[in-house]
Amino acid sequence: MSRARPGPRHSGRIELAPEAGPGSLTFESMTPADVDDVAAIEEASFPTPYTARMFHDDLRGGQPACWWVIRHDDARGDRGRAPIVAYAGYYLRRDRAHLAKIATHPAWRRRRLGEGLLLSTLLAARGQGADSVTLEVRDGNTTAQRFYVKWGFVLLRRFEGYYEDTGEDGLILAFTGLADRRTAGWLERELAGIAIVPPG
Ligand SMILES: CC(C)(COP(=O)(O)OP(=O)(O)OC[C@H]1O[C@@H](n2cnc3c(N)ncnc32)[C@H](O)[C@@H]1OP(=O)(O)O)[C@@H](O)C(=O)NCCC(=O)NCCS
Repeated sequence: MSRARPGPRHSGRIELAPEAGPGSLTFESMTPADVDDVAAIEEASFPTPYTARMFHDDLRGGQPACWWVIRHDDARGDRGRAPIVAYAGYYLRRDRAHLAKIATHPAWRRRRLGEGLLLSTLLAARGQGADSVTLEVRDGNTTAQRFYVKWGFVLLRRFEGYYEDTGEDGLILAFTGLADRRTAGWLERELAGIAIVPPG
């Protein structure tokens, strides 16, 4: 595998809805200082979560991975400590990215943040040369399947009993044509149209 190249940033921002008041959501690279917060969301999101150590190992460059976070800065506190509300990571091999993780903090779900993160992540992978993105999803995770299918992922393959912890089948989904300018334009327009209202 070749190491992922730091690609151009397509956009660092996901819009908050006007009624959300001042503040911002930013899409940025994950750093080691982010790992504890990410691991807490991971723990709340997956039956067999990555540990903090696994994230640290990936960030140290053991594998060609690209990890991203979304921070919510409510414009009241210290910008540097703006909490992480979602994250995603993929491994890149030539023009194929494999989305290893994507999760929204439970308090922020169903507010379109996941979509903002997914589209930002697809565009980031494109910026690093990816033309397709694959992922594995549990047969029972119908929420995630709807989420991916809504954005053009299609079923490639089913692996029976793929997940050892529950015995569930694993589905491989794929998004293709990322290198096409029209696809990128569509993703950028859709991303620009997402406006999120924070919880509470
Ligand atoms: C999957 C996940 C990332 C979606 O994040 P989110 O921020 O809640 O998603 P969004 O609000 O952007 O929803 C986008 C679309 O996903 C689908 N979706 C999201 N949550 C859903 C739910 N509870 N029920 C049904 N569909 C849902 C819908 O199609 C939704 O669009 P709609 O609101 O127009 O119907 C989030 O549920 C999560 O973190 N789950 C735990 C981790 C996980 O399973 N990750 C994927 C592993 S493969």
